Parts: sequence; structure tokens; C-alpha cells
Amino acid sequence: MGLVVLAVGLMVLANIANAGRLQVQGTNFVKDGKRVFLSGGNQAWIAYGYDFGDNNYEYRKTEFEKYLKLVNENGGNSIRVWIHIEGVISPHFDSNGYVTGLDGKGTFIAEFKEYLARAQHYNILIFPCLWNGALKQQHKHLAELIQDTSKLQSYIDKALIPWVQAVKDEPALGGWDIMNEFEGEIIPNTHSNEPCFDTTFLLNSGAGWAGATYSAHELLRFVNWQADAIMRTDPEALMTAGSWNARDNTDRLNTHNLYSDNCLRKAGGRQRGILNFYSSHSYAWGGKYDEYSPFKHNFSDYGLTKPFVIAEFNQVSGEGMDITEQFQWAYDNGYAGAWTWHLHADGSNTDSTANQLRGMKYMKDKNDQSKGGLVAITL
Ligand SMILES: *[C@@H]1O[C@H](CO)[C@@H](O)[C@H](O)[C@H]1NC(C)=O
Repeated sequence: MGLVVLAVGLMVLANIANAGRLQVQGTNFVKDGKRVFLSGGNQAWIAYGYDFGDNNYEYRKTEFEKYLKLVNENGGNSIRVWIHIEGVISPHFDSNGYVTGLDGKGTFIAEFKEYLARAQHYNILIFPCLWNGALKQQHKHLAELIQDTSKLQSYIDKALIPWVQAVKDEPALGGWDIMNEFEGEIIPNTHSNEPCFDTTFLLNSGAGWAGATYSAHELLRFVNWQADAIMRTDPEALMTAGSWNARDNTDRLNTHNLYSDNCLRKAGGRQRGILNFYSSHSYAWGGKYDEYSPFKHNFSDYGLTKPFVIAEFNQVSGEGMDITEQFQWAYDNGYAGAWTWHLHADGSNTDSTANQLRGMKYMKDKNDQSKGGLVAITL
């Protein structure tokens, strides 16, 4: 009897231990006392901009589940997925450009929770990425949220906070990425006495490729306000914003970290609106990684005090490295994770799904606590 009680007690304890959330500890992720390496891929989309909201998930879920299963079978533990992109079906706007909800039909939260439930079944952490700055916008809604703070506040109150509230206790919720590559829309070469808003160091960097439209001040405020709303709603949330290149994600290498706590607070004034991990993307152009690439540096070279994930990379633009070598590099050189581009494998510059899964499979059994950490986590 006593033994049974003890055994049941131990099982309960074991369950509690497994239920721990992924957290930041110094420059690493930890879960249940173990250092964790985020190994996985970008499920950027199934149908670009039409995956969640207004019942669209109903028509995408077979595909989403196919990839969850494949990533799980090949030992991946995490996926980054793009949600609003530029706000065509989610969030929902009124005719004046104010947000009235996550979508028009009111199904968004149920759709996203269904995806998280399936991800939990497959032991995969989901990192929703809210907006996309890497492609020239076709619609005015996102522009207005970036430039008009009363509209941004309507998004926060009517969409973002209810969403976070609804999913914050879901075991498969990994963390939030506010915006993909805002540098696509940043105005380079703006002089400012405030280093956080001075973009002269981005002249001729390629930044602004998707229409140089917004100041660093506007983009950083956009990130700061949303990050603050999420952190106030869920103080344990993990928070990032994916930079297009590490060159504006570090103060070393003769460049400037626009994503620092100081810059985000300076831009938006909201104290809790900071990131607790950094993430950046890296592709070789013309067969070469640039001098800022994480595949040319170890983590310590960047002088950062938070975990750093290589949140987009692939072999096809990998300077000849095999995908297993890229994963191994990230694991051995202090990075906290690596996500391949991209699982649905459509469009240019992507590895095949099979090649990405080969990389994940190579990582599957890793658990070196003095290097990247554990890959096979249990949610
Ligand atoms: C990182 O690389 C630099 C050279 O770029 C080297 O001096 C340093 O020892 C390395 N640090 C670690 C922790 O490997």
C-alpha cells in the first residue's frame, strides 16, 4: 500500500517534471533542468497568409499534420510558423483600419489551439511569427499598424492579448517571433544622434529590399509594444524577432544591435517589451556567407547575453556545407537552436523537405550538456 502510494507519488512528480516550460537561463534554453537545443524547421506556411483564421486551418490541417509527423519521426523538436504575415485574413480590420478581432469569423483561436494540440501530440514546440517584413506589402493594414499607434493598440487589445491569454498554458507553445526580417522595409542610411535610430551602418547592406518604408524607430516601437503586451499577459513567454542578418543584431563586428533592450525601450517606451532570445537568418549569396554569418562565427563573437537561434538556413544556400554540418556547427559553437528553410519547400531558395529532415535526423539523439544540449525533449 505504502509502496503503491509512493509509486503514484513519484509518477506525479515525474509528470510535473516533464511539464516544465522551456525557459531562458543565461545564454541557453533549459527545460526540466536540462540544456535544450531547438532543432527543427520553418513551417513558414502551407498557403502563404491563408493558414489561420476564418476557418482556413480546416483546409490546411492535413498538410500541417503531415509535417508535424515528419518532423517528429525524424527527431526535430520545434517549428517556426508564420501567422498574420501582412494581415489579409488575420487579424480582422474595420473600414477605418482598426483591429476588431483575430479574424472575421471568430474561429482563429480554436484553429490555432487545434494546431498546438497536434503539435503536443508530436512533441513539437511551436514558435508563431506574427508579421512579415521580407516581402513588399500589397495591403495597407500592416503599414498602418506600424505607423499609427492607436491602430497598433487596437491590434494589441482586440487580437494579441486574447490570443496569448488563450494559448499561454498550452504545452506546445514555444515562444513568439514578432516580425520576420523587418529590415526588408527599413529605411537605410538615416542619420540620427540616437544610435538606435541611426541606420547609416545599413547603407549598401541590402536592407530595404522590400520597399524602404519605415524608420528604425517605428519598427522597433512596433516590436516593443507587442512584446510588452505578450510579456504582461504571460510573464514566462519566450520572445524574439527574427533579423535578416546578424549585422544589426550585435554591437560587435563594427555594427549595431537594433534588437537590444535599450533600443526597443527607447523606441516604444514600454519596459517589458524586450526580447529574451535573439534569432537571425543566414544564407550564402553568390556561394559565400557574408562576414556576419553565424556560420562564420561562434556565438561568443557576437557578445550577446541571451540565447541565439539560427532561425533560417539551408544547404542550397549554404556555401557548400552539408545540412548535417550546418546543424553540427550550430550545436558546437554556442547557438541555442537551428531551423531549416522551409518545410513546405515551395518558392525559390529552399531545401527539399527530405534534405531538411535528414538534417534533423542527424541531430535527433544529441544530448551534450556542455555543448548545444538535449534535442529529444518531452512536452
Ligand atoms: C570564438 O571564436 C573566436 C575567434 O573568432 C575565438 O577567439 C574564441 O576563443 C572562440 N570562443 C569559443 C567559446 O569557442
